[in-house]
This record gives sequence, C-alpha cells and structure tokens, in this order.
Amino acid sequence: MTWRATVLTLFPKIFPGPLGVSLAGKALTCGLWELEARDIRSSATDKHRSVDDTPAGGGPGMVLRADILAAAIDAADVGQDRPRLLMSPRGRPLTQSLVAELAAGPGPLIVCGRFEGVDQRVIEARNLQEVSIGDYVLSGGEIAAMALIDACVRLLPGVMGKQASGVDESFSEGLLEYPQYTRPQEFEGRPIPEILISGDHAGVAAWRRAEAEALTRARRPDLWAARGGQKGTKSTTEG
Ligand code: ADE
Repeated sequence: MTWRATVLTLFPKIFPGPLGVSLAGKALTCGLWELEARDIRSSATDKHRSVDDTPAGGGPGMVLRADILAAAIDAADVGQDRPRLLMSPRGRPLTQSLVAELAAGPGPLIVCGRFEGVDQRVIEARNLQEVSIGDYVLSGGEIAAMALIDACVRLLPGVMGKQASGVDESFSEGLLEYPQYTRPQEFEGRPIPEILISGDHAGVAAWRRAEAEALTRARRPDLWAARGGQKGTKSTTEG
C-alpha cells in the first residue's frame, strides 16, 4: 500500500504547499506517496459552522471542540493501524528516529491544532499522540505537519535519487553533517580543503568523520553526549 498522510486542518487549501514542489512534489506526482487534506470545518453541525468555543474555567483564546474534531477524525476513516498524531508544542519532540519509524509504517493521520488548544477529551478518546517540531510556538500545526511529512517522504523507497545521500547525512548516526564544497576551486581567497581534491578516498572519509564529530561536539553537546562521545577516545577531551 502507498504511504499516505491524512491531514485534518481548518486550512486545507494550504496543502500541498511546499510539499507540492521539489523532491516531495515530484514523488507525489509519481504516486510514491499520497496526501489527503481534510477540512475539520466540514464536520461542524451548526449553521455558523463553528469548530471552537471558549475555554472551560476561563482564559484567553478559543479551544477546538472535542465533538467536532472527533467527528472529523471518524469521517477520515483511517482505521486502527495508522498512527494518529496531533501537532502541538507540548508533544514528544520530532527526531530523525521518529521520522524513520513513521516513514516505515503506512503513514499517519495528522491533526493540526489551532487556537489555544484542543479539548483534552478528544486527545484521549481518539488516542492522539502529540508531536512537537521544537520549543517554540507556531500559530497552528500546519507548518509543523508539513515539516514532519517532508522529513518522512524523503525516506520513502524510490524518493531520493541517490540512496547514499540518505545514509551520510546529519542525524543518521547522531552526528551533524560535515561541510560540503564544490567548484570553483577557490572562492574569495578560500580554497577547497586539500584532502577533498587529493583522490585519497580513505583520507576524505576520515576528514569528513573528524569534521562531523567536531561540529557535533561544538554545536550540539546534547547530541554528542547522547551517543556517549566519540567511541574509543577519552571523554575528557570533549567540550
Ligand atoms: N503547533 C504550534 N507550535 C507547534 C510546534 N512547535 N510543534 C508542533 N506543532 C505546533
């Protein structure tokens, strides 16, 4: 079965957006994955088609109603085998390993939150797993959903031209990516590092590895620590 993202949103027109161009867009056109954007408002029942209401207990903003969102989820009829996600800044952080897990499955149902939040009861009743794309607050879940889908789609079989480009890159080994260079040989007085034009393949690999490790140590001590530092060397040299 084709990998499919089913998105529940109040703004279905903004899809596919950036997912309709470049790598993801070509793969979408080729049928390597499917995207369905569904309007939550289609499940509204009153004549104003309202989907939100004031928070119980008071406070600012509006809350997405449990009954309307539950009806929208049920109408999407995605079955039990697909993960059900709610994009939310209080969710589990999106990482490359979660992306890989989602890409390996049938594809998620993704609810995009808006307003101050979503009624807690629908999160529980429909078993929604909250996922965050970072410690900042977006005005809605749509951009977060697009980020998640884009990261998954590029891992789908046949999407990336050169399979190798998925192996070397940032995070696949818990390391940031090494610096890249291309022509010209010299740019504003800065030459390409000698080793990269030496033809010494083992030397290139060692240089890239060392650069990736140095970058990770300097910029992402959290990632470096999570992989236990450089295996086989003393951790006292880190920092
Ligand atoms: N909705 C609003 N902010 C978000 C975030 N940081 N991640 C996921 N969904 C969001």
